[in-house]
This record gives sequence, structure tokens and C-alpha cells, in this order.
Amino acid sequence: MSDHNNEFQNRPVAVLGAASGIGRATALAFASRGARVAALDVNTDSLEGFADTLRDTGASEALTATADVRDSSMLNAVLKQTATGLGGLDHLIFTSGILRVGALADMAEEEFDDVFAVNMRGFWIAARAALPHLQSGPDRRKSITALSSAAAIRPKASSGAYAASKAALSHLVRVLAVELASSAITVNAIAPATVDTPMTQPFMGESNANHGYRLSGTSPMGRIAQPEDIAEACLFLSAQASVYITGITMPVDGGSTAAMPRS
Ligand SMILES: NC(=O)c1ccc[n+]([C@@H]2O[C@H](COP(=O)([O-])OP(=O)(O)OC[C@H]3O[C@@H](n4cnc5c(N)ncnc54)[C@H](O)[C@@H]3O)[C@@H](O)[C@H]2O)c1
Repeated sequence: MSDHNNEFQNRPVAVLGAASGIGRATALAFASRGARVAALDVNTDSLEGFADTLRDTGASEALTATADVRDSSMLNAVLKQTATGLGGLDHLIFTSGILRVGALADMAEEEFDDVFAVNMRGFWIAARAALPHLQSGPDRRKSITALSSAAAIRPKASSGAYAASKAALSHLVRVLAVELASSAITVNAIAPATVDTPMTQPFMGESNANHGYRLSGTSPMGRIAQPEDIAEACLFLSAQASVYITGITMPVDGGSTAAMPRS
């Protein structure tokens, strides 16, 4: 068996949604493996100083840039600038996402549209913007990994738009995987249940301001996922070890969607 321990050393990786939570942990995980990392996010303030943190963690190159996944011309420019800055692009990790809660009967149209614009359409235009850069450069392991959700597999009341946007994202992943199969770029999604991040923290504990929304919470494994658990899965789906895996949505949920737990 070959040794893949250093396989991300000097490899150019762009993480969209890197200012927080799972994206931030994933950018740090690639940095700790010596990758060249671009941390991209709409939240410019939270990217402040992050390039230094990435370098301190081990990144062989690091940059940050403002990127709004609702804006295709901005994404085209940022991905081009990223590929120039990193000397290519081997892996795109799409973690940008928003959660809006509320019953479908009550949700405002603007909120519904925002959820789809970021979670689903954002993935499509980000992947499209990254493609010319993934397809050029050396012939080696290339991949796109997106954050879907357990909600794509098992939707919940009071987050209908979110669940539908993630199911649609998982479908885009399947189709893109097949469309890119001949160019050997794998395309996959990860489906976590509850992960301890700023997205879910407002919903932890008892609250009557949650509009009926309930987190999946503690998994059958007895704990809530940490962002690092999901970052490891992003590394795996970018690694040589997963070269023949494409078009899947992989649950990384401690068994949360596997079966109903014992009472
Ligand atoms: N936390 C969970 O329990 C959980 C569970 C399943 C799936 N997910 C998914 O994982 C991904 C990461 O979530 P997280 O928990 O780290 O949330 P988070 O809120 O901590 O991070 C999401 C990031 O996406 C960025 N973002 C939002 N809108 C954007 C836009 N228009 N353009 C660019 N970036 C934008 C935010 O600025 C933020 O940095 C999301 O897609 C989320 O839906 C999270």
C-alpha cells in the first residue's frame, strides 16, 4: 500500500464558507496537512487574521478573500484569483450554507429564496466557477465536496426550505459527478446531523423562539458532532483513498439517520 500521509502537502484547496464552523475546521485540517489553502466567505470580518492562523497551522500557502456564493461574477473572479494565488486548484470544498426555520405556511418568500440561493444555487455556480481551474493543471487527484445535511435524507418540520435545498444540492452532486466522471474529478456531499457550530448553537437548549424547530441533537453515539468530525470526512473525500467514490451523499452523523434509536 502506498503512503498517503503527505498527500495534501502543497496541494491547492479552496474552502467556501471558511469563516465559521465546519468550513473553518476544514480549512484548518487541510492547513495542518501542509496544503495551500484559500479561505473564502461572504463574512469578511471573520476572515481577518485567518490566513496567518492557517500558515501557523502548517499551510504551505494561505489566502483569504470575500466571496458571496449568490454572485456568479464575483465567484468567477474570486476562484480565478484563488487559482492564481495558490498556483492551481485541486479541491473545492463548499460549506457555505444558511438555515432559516419556521413552518412552510409562515415562511416569507424572501427567506425561502435566500436558502435556495445559498445552499443549492450557490453550490452550482461555485462548482461551475471552479471547474476551469480544476480541469487545468497537473493530472492528479481532483475533487469537489459539498456540505449537504441529514435533512436531505430525513427532513424535519419547521425547516422545510432548508431540507429541500439540501435534497436538491445532493441531486446536483449526483448529476455533476456523472457529468465530470470522464475528467476524473469526483463530486460528493457529506450529510451531518447536528454539528456544534454557530449555525446550531442558537437552537441548543430549551427555547420557545425556535418556531417549532428541533435539532437532531445527540447521536446514537452519545454526543453531538464537532466541526473536526466533518472536516475529517472532507479530507477523506478529497484523498486518494476515495478516488473511486463519486456522486454520493455520505452520512457523517454518528448513526443519527441509520435507524430510530431505542426509547
Ligand atoms: N451545523 C450543523 O449541525 C449542520 C448540519 C448539517 C449540515 N450543515 C451544513 O454545513 C455547512 C456549514 O455549516 P456550519 O454549521 O459550519 O454553519 P456556520 O453558520 O458556522 O458556517 C456557514 C458559513 O457559510 C457562510 N455563508 C453564508 N452565506 C454565504 C454566502 N452567501 N456566500 C458565502 N458564504 C456564505 C457563512 O458566512 C459562514 O461562515 C452548511 O452548509 C450547513 O447547512 C450543518
